[in-house]
Amino acid sequence: MPAAVVDARLFSLAMLTLVACSSSSSPTMMTRAQLLDPQACQGCHPDQYSQWSGSMHAYSSKDPVFRAMNQRGQRETSGQLGPFCVKCHAPMAVHEGATTDGLNLDQLPEQLHGVTCFFCHSVASVDGVHNNPLTLASDNVLRGSFADPLVAGRSHLADYSALIDRQTAASASMCGACHDIQAPPGGNIERTFQEWQATAFPAVLGNTCAQCHMPQSTELVAVAKVPNAPLRRAHDHSSPGVDVALTDFPNKPEQLNLVQASLNPTLQTAICVERFAGGSKVSLIVDNAAAGHSFPSGSAQDRRAWFELTAYVASNVVYSSGAVPAGTPVVSSPDPDLWLLRDCMFDGTGAQVDMFWQAASYEGNALPAIVTFDISSPDFYLGHKQRYFPPSGSPITTPDRITLKVHVTPIGLDVLDDLIASGDLDAGLRGLMPTFDVGDTLEWTPDAGTHTYVDRDTGGLVFCATTTSLNVQADKFPAPVKTHCSP
Ligand code: HEC
Ligand code: HEC
Ligand code: HEC
Ligand code: HEC
Ligand code: HEC
Repeated sequence: MPAAVVDARLFSLAMLTLVACSSSSSPTMMTRAQLLDPQACQGCHPDQYSQWSGSMHAYSSKDPVFRAMNQRGQRETSGQLGPFCVKCHAPMAVHEGATTDGLNLDQLPEQLHGVTCFFCHSVASVDGVHNNPLTLASDNVLRGSFADPLVAGRSHLADYSALIDRQTAASASMCGACHDIQAPPGGNIERTFQEWQATAFPAVLGNTCAQCHMPQSTELVAVAKVPNAPLRRAHDHSSPGVDVALTDFPNKPEQLNLVQASLNPTLQTAICVERFAGGSKVSLIVDNAAAGHSFPSGSAQDRRAWFELTAYVASNVVYSSGAVPAGTPVVSSPDPDLWLLRDCMFDGTGAQVDMFWQAASYEGNALPAIVTFDISSPDFYLGHKQRYFPPSGSPITTPDRITLKVHVTPIGLDVLDDLIASGDLDAGLRGLMPTFDVGDTLEWTPDAGTHTYVDRDTGGLVFCATTTSLNVQADKFPAPVKTHCSP
């Protein structure tokens, strides 16, 4: 073999070893300051970074409604709220001592805004069930669900933690620690975690928050974009719910689409009609089929969800409820039949209050989640809510077509108006608050009313239209009739 060839072979072999060496030796370890900064994760975890960047977790301390409410709360309590709000909305800023009340959020460095990567991935223990009782580790180890994270190419320490593993109930206690609020006067005004615990999801299916809210990739992918990364399932970090960014923010169109897609299958509905000689009795049956907690949940004191039902004879409207002109707060509707889902809050004397730091108690009428998957259990259909229109059950002129739309506004226009009137919120933001339709418009006609059941009181046959698998023959429970807070 000519010497030159041997040399070339040796040379290329040496080159290969060199390249392999430099890619398999770990890059320089990140400093704590770098670990705190989500942007420092972008290079190796671009997908998680980009999804998180457009999430409400990233927006939580930029959210102008949050800032307005916190500012007002601090003023009205003469600062007694202290870090209460920012402890969940900008937890790293509080942890680092960069804010004590959230009134200086404009001055905070970018990396301390929102619920950050470092915050979730450093949780060492969950020491309670509400108001963010999470303790962070100080060992700079980023926790995740991999017991064997690739060492080469990794610029940080890493380890397994059940608190970040969506297959374990412990992970729900991590999410739940923030998704459950007890206001200073004692009102348990946000209860998503508590609600979830009472459903059939944790016990039977083991469904945690992240199993529904951080869907798993169908493809195996490299979750770190480094050479020789193992292929794994990635988990979506966009966490869509109902709320959306109002101001300029990354991925806004995607966020709207994700929220819409997540809302669409949430409820199952049926429009039912029972005919009499003089008219027809009309009702809705509604089931919270997909949420692992009540619907609405979380900020249900500020959320407004309602049902718009319109009955026609030809093109004439013979009955309608819940038709609210765009831009009008639904709570100001004079409609006595309105079916509005929202929480009401009261202070220690039982008087209604509008801002949640004042709440000593609450009353809710949300649609409950499934409490058992056992079809033979009497509780199986507890979530099947039925409501008549009008609520008295009096017959209306027999319609030949009925439509149903379900609307939800993430933060009610009445709440925004209240914050605008107190000088805390820019009036220009009001017009940017979306109202979503939950699913498509459902239509009943005599032809579409093919699902039937026998009315227990009248013995008459009821004809229902539904586009879902809702079982109209099963037990039905009356939905609350009263939907406004004041008597
Ligand atoms: C230089 C590249 C690099 C950077 C920068 C980087 N990571 Fe990683 N990270 C990795 C590699 C490699 C793994 C292991 C991947 C595997 O095993 O599939 C990993 C794994 C992880 C895991 C999973 C750990 C486990 O045990 O389950 C988490 C969580 C994580 N990184 C978060 C972050 C965060 C947050 C940042 C920013 C502060 C960050 N990473 C920055 C390369 C990087
Ligand atoms: C079985 C699936 C499932 C589980 C489990 C689940 N969720 Fe949800 N969640 C949903 C659906 C469906 C919605 C309604 C659609 C939407 O808002 O996008 C929702 C909505 C939400 C919302 C928006 C609030 C609202 O008014 O609807 C929050 C916040 C939320 N979930 C947090 C959580 C937390 C925290 C947990 C765990 C304690 C959890 N979820 C468990 C499916 C689930
Ligand atoms: C609200 C808490 C939370 C925040 C904020 C968060 N993560 Fe995660 N992350 C999780 C959970 C939970 C999982 C684990 C899912 C599983 O495997 O069970 C996860 C998984 C990961 C993984 C493993 C790969 C995967 O997709 O499952 C990486 C890498 C990661 N996160 C990086 C980041 C980065 C980078 C950021 C910020 C840009 C971030 N995370 C923000 C909760 C969070
Ligand atoms: C440090 C507290 C904290 C932790 C831990 C946390 N969240 Fe959140 N989460 C928030 C805050 C604050 C918001 C709302 C931001 C806003 O609307 O301004 C939010 C918003 C959300 C939303 C969107 C709600 C909506 O109405 O749009 C979902 C879904 C969600 N979180 C799910 C999760 C899941 C799943 C986990 C666990 C993997 C988790 N969160 C862990 C504080 C937290
Ligand atoms: C225990 C953690 C926690 C505390 C404390 C907390 N929040 Fe939140 N906040 C959340 C979570 C989680 C969400 C998202 C829930 C949802 O969208 O259903 C949220 C959502 C919000 C929203 C937007 C969603 C809406 O529909 O209104 C505003 C505004 C807000 N919070 C203001 C405040 C203010 C003001 C305080 C203090 C008085 C505060 N929060 C205290 C966790 C917290």
